[in-house]
Amino acid sequence: MAKIGEFLWRIVVFIFEIILSPLPFFKKFFWKRWYNWLSRDKTIEVDFLFMNYGHHEVSENKEKLRNGEYLKKERSFYSPDNETMARLYFYLCESFSGNFRGKSLIEVGSGRGGGARFISQNYPISSFIGIDLSTKNIDFSKDLHKNIPQLSFMEGDAEKLPLAEGSVDIVFNVESSHCYPRFETFISEVSRVLKTGGHFIFCDFRPKEEREGLLKVFKKNGLEVLSEVDITPNILAALDFDSEKRIALIKRLTPKFMYPIMKIFSGVKGTLVYENFKKGKLDYFHFVLAKKSKEEPTRPIEEKR
Ligand SMILES: C[S@@+](CC[C@H](N)C(=O)[O-])C[C@H]1O[C@@H](n2cnc3c(N)ncnc32)[C@H](O)[C@@H]1O
Repeated sequence: MAKIGEFLWRIVVFIFEIILSPLPFFKKFFWKRWYNWLSRDKTIEVDFLFMNYGHHEVSENKEKLRNGEYLKKERSFYSPDNETMARLYFYLCESFSGNFRGKSLIEVGSGRGGGARFISQNYPISSFIGIDLSTKNIDFSKDLHKNIPQLSFMEGDAEKLPLAEGSVDIVFNVESSHCYPRFETFISEVSRVLKTGGHFIFCDFRPKEEREGLLKVFKKNGLEVLSEVDITPNILAALDFDSEKRIALIKRLTPKFMYPIMKIFSGVKGTLVYENFKKGKLDYFHFVLAKKSKEEPTRPIEEKR
């Protein structure tokens, strides 16, 4: 029965991806409703702070070391249930070779604010604004994270950022851009709000063949690639580690008929997205980019694959 349910949901996902998702209005409408629904009751699951696939090191020794370092961090509201997902932000921050001291940060697609909170509490930034399309995610974030003085949240659209030109030092964007109907409009907004020399820390998944298109859009909008890492193996390691916890969360949060789609959506082992990572059809990219001044030449890409 569960197998039939999953098969039927696969057909729904196929129709969604081929017919509905290319329609810009529908795509935005759908994701806003979807995330509002997931955060419909802000009083439950307050440690449900993240909505990403997580990050783990592939080698056992490296993983032990990395997790040991993570556990030394300030982690109020963090639990074994959200550790792997918090670790994606930890990885992004620790692998950033720039400086966070005194910097103004934003995250576009901040979800339930766990990443914004983690960074604000552990790195010497001056301010952090989380921006999200979902009213419910922003309501939840404003409530739960209100005691962190340098952290604030506002509702907003990635394609029309509610910020002044050249006002931000570092933009984060974590596993959110696949929801945007016009990726290039988002990237032009990132470039507009960044100060010259400011950084863009970006990670998300895409079909393998879309990598070249991403690079073209970055270049066209004056963003220079400083580093590129394919973190698909780390995402798979995290999903391997976390699948049981994800299933338990799904069972607590959603009605039974939704279990198969929720499992696909949250990348549970053996389901569509997980298998596409495994087969190499989907890649999970991590880029660090810098906003160039108009005169600066492009530096070569540092590629770690
Ligand atoms: C998979 S969740 C990731 C959330 C968070 N970055 C994390 O890792 O926990 C994607 C988020 O992107 C937000 N989002 C989707 N479309 C958006 C848009 N056009 N503008 C801003 N946020 C958007 C969703 O509401 C959701 O909170």
